[in-house]
Amino acid sequence: MKKIFFPLIAIIVIACFLLPGCKAQNKDEIVIGEYGSLTGSEATFGISSTNGLKLAVEEVNNSGGLLGKKINLITYDDRGLPSEAAIVVQKLINKDNVSAIIGEVASSRSKSGAQICQSSKIPMITPASTNPEVTAIGDYIFRVCFIDPFQASVMTKFAINSLKIKRVAVLQDVKNAYSTGLADFFVSQFKAAGGEIIEVQSYSSGDKDFKAQLTAIKSKNPEGVFIPGYYTDVGLIAIQAREIGITAPLFGSDGWESEKLTEGTAKDALEGCFFSTHVSTEDPSPQVQSFIQKYKAKYNIMPDAMSFLAYDAGLIMFDAIKRANSTDADKIKAELSKTKDFSGVTGKISINEQRNAIKPAVILEIKGGKFKYKETVNP
Ligand code: PHE
Repeated sequence: MKKIFFPLIAIIVIACFLLPGCKAQNKDEIVIGEYGSLTGSEATFGISSTNGLKLAVEEVNNSGGLLGKKINLITYDDRGLPSEAAIVVQKLINKDNVSAIIGEVASSRSKSGAQICQSSKIPMITPASTNPEVTAIGDYIFRVCFIDPFQASVMTKFAINSLKIKRVAVLQDVKNAYSTGLADFFVSQFKAAGGEIIEVQSYSSGDKDFKAQLTAIKSKNPEGVFIPGYYTDVGLIAIQAREIGITAPLFGSDGWESEKLTEGTAKDALEGCFFSTHVSTEDPSPQVQSFIQKYKAKYNIMPDAMSFLAYDAGLIMFDAIKRANSTDADKIKAELSKTKDFSGVTGKISINEQRNAIKPAVILEIKGGKFKYKETVNP
């Protein structure tokens, strides 16, 4: 008898950690999960977004909570790894019994977390992942930012109309779904707009030596180099590009955004370069400026695009729960898809049929290591 009894108890105890619904939920709170890169090479993504989201949670809790309950935000670090993202999302669902999930910034990690949310039928909003495949994973997956085909068209028009360049090289990160996706969208749109792609070269995130790729690019004498990568590599790429004598402007996308981009000599290497992103802190609108004030008062630093977007992602999720008047996943999902003209700190947000947001992009210019507002491009 004992022989089966004890193993059986052990199995039940273990199963309680792995299966949903075993942890008794506190009836006075609504549990929301978040996953992000709080450590690892892209830590600024995770830290900025959790700061923004915490601000949203704090504001709602201080003004009476949600459905009369306090929001309890549980945040896990995925260390910047897609495999870890899947593990922590599973834990949020099975162990913490969350009603909904916010995350991630990086598209490759959002894709991995979204698979779990979709199969577990838990609504997820990514604040900042722009690769179209993320929300295509299924009807529980939403985003509050634009997608990369749009971002590619923004930089295509900018290159042709503002920089007045037609012969462009592309340098993509083959380890990053966001980067290869955006490179492909850019190549086809730039060609369709009459431009010429004279070279496409690849690297892998974390590489330290880009000289071979840059030399190949330089030999084609481009008028500009499009680099849809993350700030973690772009600074070093820029330094080496200048070292081997590439003087053409480098231009890129939202993944450049971190104040770490222009650290050290990258500041000079990137002078006069451009990237597209979601918001400019120089935007004089009251929504943007009051968010900056609140954020600075709490954290003593400036917010970046991820902080703004995560704040909006949180408020949109809480608003959907409020309208659903329930934490039932299907009801939240139904309300999320009805989001229309939500007035966020990143502008007016409406969710379309593909569960994406249609929003303008801004182009920033790097001047003296700072990101200066250049122009807004409407969809
Ligand atoms: N859009 C990037 C991605 O999908 C993430 C990102 C968003 C990075 C905003 C910086 C700023 O991977």
